[in-house]
Amino acid sequence: MRRARFEDGRQRIFRRAYNYDIPPGNGSVSDSGLIFVSFQADVDTQFTPLQKRLDELDLLNEWTVPIGSAVFAIPPGCAEGGYIGDTLLN
Ligand code: HEM
Repeated sequence: MRRARFEDGRQRIFRRAYNYDIPPGNGSVSDSGLIFVSFQADVDTQFTPLQKRLDELDLLNEWTVPIGSAVFAIPPGCAEGGYIGDTLLN
């Protein structure tokens, strides 16, 4: 948590985590994890510096295995009567 905490307020992100825990079948172990989702305006200046700090030193790394990542462009919402993405045209 300390490594994730921002000294620079411009790195603030909006986090949403989805836990999953698939029970073990015969002779196997459970498949448990966390899908980490964050929303930010700029991946390079907000998410990446934070991820680097955790990569350098996060004691949680001993217990987790990253299995994938992806970046999506999410358009802003719209006002009543508008449509998704309409603000991008202004
Ligand atoms: C297995 C994966 C992870 C676990 C179990 C985990 C767990 C936690 C927990 C328990 C907290 C403190 C409670 C809270 O504020 O929600 C926290 C805070 C935080 N985590 Fe994670 N986290 C994980 C991955 C990540 C990743 C991948 C990032 C970003 C690269 C991240 C960024 C943050 C941030 C920004 C905070 C708030 C720090 C603050 O207080 O300013 N976490 N995390």
